[in-house]
Amino acid sequence: QERPARALRGAAISFRADPFLAEDPAATLRHWPDALIRLEGGRIAGIGDFSAEAAAGLAVTHYPDALICPGFIDTHVHYPQLPMVGAYGEGLLEWLERYTFPAEMAFADAAHAAHAARVARVFLHALLAAGTTTAAVYGTVHAASAEAFFAESARLNTRMIAGKVLMDRNAPAALLDPPGGGIDESAALIERWHGRGRQLYAVTPRFAPTSSPAQLAAAGRLWREHPGTYLQTHLSESPPELAWVRELFPEAEDYLDVYHRAGLTGRRAVFGHGVHLSEAEFCRCHATGSALAHCPSSNLFLGSGAFRLSEAKRRDRPVRVGLGSDVGAGTSLSTLRTLGDAYKVSRLNGTRLSAVQAFWLATRGGAEALELEDRIGSLEPGMEADLVVLDLKATPLLEMRMAACDSLAEQLFALMTLADDRSIRATYVAGERLYG
Ligand code: GUN
Ligand code: ZN
Repeated sequence: QERPARALRGAAISFRADPFLAEDPAATLRHWPDALIRLEGGRIAGIGDFSAEAAAGLAVTHYPDALICPGFIDTHVHYPQLPMVGAYGEGLLEWLERYTFPAEMAFADAAHAAHAARVARVFLHALLAAGTTTAAVYGTVHAASAEAFFAESARLNTRMIAGKVLMDRNAPAALLDPPGGGIDESAALIERWHGRGRQLYAVTPRFAPTSSPAQLAAAGRLWREHPGTYLQTHLSESPPELAWVRELFPEAEDYLDVYHRAGLTGRRAVFGHGVHLSEAEFCRCHATGSALAHCPSSNLFLGSGAFRLSEAKRRDRPVRVGLGSDVGAGTSLSTLRTLGDAYKVSRLNGTRLSAVQAFWLATRGGAEALELEDRIGSLEPGMEADLVVLDLKATPLLEMRMAACDSLAEQLFALMTLADDRSIRATYVAGERLYG
């Protein structure tokens, strides 16, 4: 017996263009005060204003006092760091040594496979509970970490990008690829997982200091040999890190040039942070089509600095930018919380991230940064049906605050300032309700 075609009913938003670049930013946002969203075969079959005729014959799930959005997109996050999120009190390099590397060593061998599977399961469930349906995810140096992650993501049918970390120096021996190693394992993971269902692979050198120039170059070759795969790494996060990179790569013009020389810039390259980029580096991101993952929670937590988002999005040379939680240096998987932090970081620069810009970053902007905007990130016919239903009355405080809002933009701003996982009423993945 066939299931009746299904639909969701409720207020909904989606973007048609980039509000950072549009003449009229408000016009980039579509708003249906009462939408009917038809789901079919894991995709959005149609979206329009609700009417009894339009809903006839459909099994309709109604979400009053809610806002339906495209599922959130987290463009930079480390799943193995979930067990040590919020570790106290260090800058980036000390934090890596004292907390991060030990946490990643727990993924070391077959005996730890159960640990990897458990953390992947908790992580993916927590993502869905935060309304996030796609993420660009770092594993550890161990191939088994990526294997465990993809296995769980494939089971859930979530669209995820992930990769085994590459590093061959400047970290504990237990966390290093053998000389010349790591590339074959990455290639095997690409063969096994890239394009299998909704899974996508990212070649993942951790950052310049932990890879030899030879490993960076090999990563560049591997990435180019497999069109459609991603490249993810860290770039220009903290001042001591920048000084170290200058020391390790004296021949490079700047930090981004280290990656550029290794063939690691271009479309589908996603660089975490970019807090201290020069004008030349922004220009090169633009020219090569490389994307940045803005990770405000992490930058505040480690004291790394304030990313200049409006500078990155300058209209004469715009750079693709998505939003990243960067857990475990970021302290929350919640995109709503991360957007609240992004606003506060924008104030440190004397700018003001708008709610419309913020929700674009979390949805369509993230999809564009990952070159997935033809599949996810907006509510349009043909898009994969990844959606989040935000509860506008999740708490008495939120309900009271919402009552004082007289525009959609104010509501969105109240959500990013006050709301958290309690506002995630439901999360849909490829048309199936996996949370809520
Ligand atoms: N730079 C290199 N590795 C890391 C990491 O795991 N987290 C963050 N925030 N920065 C890094
Ligand atoms: Zn990171």
